[in-house]
Amino acid sequence: MIQPGPIGIFDSGYGGLTILSQIRNLLPEYDFLYLGDNARTPYGTRSFQVVYEFTSQAVNTLFEMGCQLVILACNTASAKALRNIQQLDLPKMDSQKRVLGIIRPTVEALDELTQSRHVGILATAGTIKSQSYPLEIKKLFPDITVCGEACPMWVPLVENNEGQSEGADYFVKKHIDNLLQKDSDIDTIILGCTHYPLLLDKIRKYTPEGIKIVTQGEYVSQSLKEYLRRHPQMDELCTKEGTCRFLTTESAEIFRQNASVFLKEAVHVRSIALK
Ligand code: DGL
Repeated sequence: MIQPGPIGIFDSGYGGLTILSQIRNLLPEYDFLYLGDNARTPYGTRSFQVVYEFTSQAVNTLFEMGCQLVILACNTASAKALRNIQQLDLPKMDSQKRVLGIIRPTVEALDELTQSRHVGILATAGTIKSQSYPLEIKKLFPDITVCGEACPMWVPLVENNEGQSEGADYFVKKHIDNLLQKDSDIDTIILGCTHYPLLLDKIRKYTPEGIKIVTQGEYVSQSLKEYLRRHPQMDELCTKEGTCRFLTTESAEIFRQNASVFLKEAVHVRSIALK
């Protein structure tokens, strides 16, 4: 008999908290178990094989802790590990368990957002190199032109709590300028990394007016709600007591301090090792 459990939310670090809070706003009755691989972040500069290996370990840990459904609240993991996990790992396991990514729900929203049909993606080097966004966009909306820019310094700025510092301005401006130089017709920019909403004030400051900045939480949470509605058998496997617990591969104390800044609440967190 399969035991219901919390919905697992995974990210390489704190970025997935931006997705988690939106999901909790929309689905407050569900239980959540968040795992941040803070000791090994960033993933964005790592190879395909390493991101797959680390993400698999994280997903297996969340499964072992009772989750039946895991959301990769990380674009890098969604781009580089999701397909392998779905096609190679899940068929070997209990077939009820599911893992979902966050690139597809973001792309689905694009049709209504862009008028010029020129879209920019700001993301980690790994996500840009994977071409996941352009490939997914071409499948759904072949008339949209896509241009990407890797922002390798943005995640370290967030993870080190330097997102509000003056130094951050330089790196934020540089990548927005680079992107708009590649294509000046862009009217919509996707923040294709879950850490980036934590730099939103600065991103807005350096983005010309009239260009829409898309963060993913709203679309991912709507898409999860819809998924649970369409899959009642999975919905039954998700417990609903409104709790949220946190796991980190870093020290619990460091996570507690940083996460409470992002989540504006005290968190119950435990440190674990992934293998
Ligand atoms: N937050 C992650 C993403 O959405 C990953 C950042 C990283 O670890 O480089 O891509």
